[in-house]
Amino acid sequence: MSKAQLDPNRPSEALPTIGILGAGKVGTVLARLLIGSGYRVLISGSGAPSKIDLIIDVLVPGATTGTSAEVAAAADVVILALPLGKALPLGARETLPLDELRGKLVIDAMNYWWEIDGVRDDLNDPTVATSELVQRLLSDSHVVKAFNHMGYHDLDEGPRPTGAPGRRGIGIAGDDDADLAAAAALVDAAGFDPVRVGTLHESFLLQPGSELFGANFPADEVRAAAARFPRTERGLELAAQRAENDRTVPADTVRV
Ligand SMILES: NC(=O)c1ccc[n+]([C@@H]2O[C@H](COP(=O)([O-])OP(=O)(O)OC[C@H]3O[C@@H](n4cnc5c(N)ncnc54)[C@H](OP(=O)(O)O)[C@@H]3O)[C@@H](O)[C@H]2O)c1
Repeated sequence: MSKAQLDPNRPSEALPTIGILGAGKVGTVLARLLIGSGYRVLISGSGAPSKIDLIIDVLVPGATTGTSAEVAAAADVVILALPLGKALPLGARETLPLDELRGKLVIDAMNYWWEIDGVRDDLNDPTVATSELVQRLLSDSHVVKAFNHMGYHDLDEGPRPTGAPGRRGIGIAGDDDADLAAAAALVDAAGFDPVRVGTLHESFLLQPGSELFGANFPADEVRAAAARFPRTERGLELAAQRAENDRTVPADTVRV
């Protein structure tokens, strides 16, 4: 632990404590935005907190560093802002603090990006959204996909107060109303309009290769792009591949 002690037993305050796993481009921007809205933010990198103390001091004053396990244990809501290939390593399940994430809302901001993650067929299966894989790994957590489609520069430069003209929208996807509402509150606090675009299974429409990936649109355009996704080339291709998969894979096959 560094800079401030993480205390999982401290009394809760009105706003949930946010943990961010990943102290890179997106993790530091989200940390800064949420601290600006009054949240207590804890953040970790891949190793000892001392490795990120300096960068956090400079980029995110007010954030507290810790190990990923400490951050996850002390947070009410955890944002995954690390490379997907590190969160879902082949043949291993030890890089995320699974026990500490149990029962918590986990916001999946990650994408499969082969230049970073390597060529990984398991992360590039057109019939299973990557957030579904995250949910399967974190089977006792509540996963919502959010903050993944907007580039970190746009996240950094785009926040506006609720109701401000031209405010940008961020698509969120999940399977539970209460989880989606909690994620929406965070998106709003970060300075963006939350737009529900579907379930985790449907969150393919937020992934690389879809129109919304990279989008920096107002909410009504995010909504419109989500609605037309099934008719896009990518959406049609996905539907065909999923139909083919349903014909050939037994319904109870576990694909992770
Ligand atoms: N860049 C964007 O514009 C953008 C926008 C939206 C979403 N995303 C997604 O957000 C994720 C992070 O992207 P990024 O651009 O922020 O990457 P980045 O700048 O490379 O930062 C990644 C961070 O994750 C840390 N990390 C690696 N393994 C970890 C582990 N097991 N536990 C905790 N932290 C770990 C890294 O620490 P070390 O340096 O110690 O390895 C680093 O701090 C990716 O999935 C990406 O697709 C990116």
